[in-house]
Amino acid sequence: MAVKNKPILEKLQEKFGEANIETRLAGLLHAQDITYRDYIHTETLLSLQKPRTKFPDEMVFIMYHQITELYFKLILWEIKQVFEADEKFAALQKCFERISRYFDALSHSFSIMKNGMEKEQYMQFRDTLTPASGFQSFQYRLIELQSTLPKNLTDVRYRNEEASEAQDLLEKLYWQTAGKKPNSEKKSPLIANFLKKHSHALEQEILRSNGGRNLWSIYSSMSKKEQENKHLIETMRHFDQTANITWVMSHYHTAKQYIGEGKATGGSDWQKYMHPKFQKRIFFPTLYTENEIAHWGHDEDL
Ligand code: HEM
Repeated sequence: MAVKNKPILEKLQEKFGEANIETRLAGLLHAQDITYRDYIHTETLLSLQKPRTKFPDEMVFIMYHQITELYFKLILWEIKQVFEADEKFAALQKCFERISRYFDALSHSFSIMKNGMEKEQYMQFRDTLTPASGFQSFQYRLIELQSTLPKNLTDVRYRNEEASEAQDLLEKLYWQTAGKKPNSEKKSPLIANFLKKHSHALEQEILRSNGGRNLWSIYSSMSKKEQENKHLIETMRHFDQTANITWVMSHYHTAKQYIGEGKATGGSDWQKYMHPKFQKRIFFPTLYTENEIAHWGHDEDL
């Protein structure tokens, strides 16, 4: 027989059984080669960009959001590998290196949004998007809840409270403030629409995160020696600062470039809401000194 690697043939026989192996090999003889297009599903991927207006730059806006959502999916994929790994230390190390790289890439490439659209076009096509906003990215909320404990994501006013029920925690998450009119408890369409679709899934995620299914809890469950590993701490801090300061500021400066002092499509008091120095979202607060926490985001322009 012309097959050089006998063990492979034996393995195939084991898998398909003596009787079926010939049919399977004959099938291979007639099967078409896989193509790049079939494997990457380029046709489906390239059919998903559907502008609502005639302004050419709306395409830039849609595609960059889609690119970001793909990166978010990669980040969630890496985090899942940690949840499922037997060797938590090695998995955590690899995960933080990878997800930092993804967030670095997103922070650098945000200039595609900031400098890559004509303001005049943006200011017109954005009206067709109201009251939607990237704020309603469910994957972004999952990244947060899978990185740290829900209590670290609550509004600063509640951060020192004892843990409460999932439903209560959901109401106290920092981003709920963006969805309420100042001096009112009434939710804006931005948040009401988001919660209508996702509140059940978010409550489930809060329960899982509280139960230890987040990167911080996994880190905290490791031995003291592993927790004190310098490289691990460095990559955790890098991820935390990239996700919660660098990316946030690239986003903030983009919003400033287009909206200036104006209103966002989601209608939030966005300048106060977005700047990291106000909410001080920190995934791994005990990895910082009191002084570092007090000055979180303070080097950034408002
Ligand atoms: C011209 C481009 C952009 C502008 C002007 C902009 C503006 C804003 C504003 C003002 C908010 C606050 C909520 C609101 O009232 O809408 C927001 C939230 C948000 N946007 Fe964007 N954005 C832009 C691009 C993007 C892109 C490309 C993404 C990627 C998915 C994104 C993801 C988000 C997320 C995740 C939030 C919530 C952030 C948080 O809760 O801290 N945005 N955006």
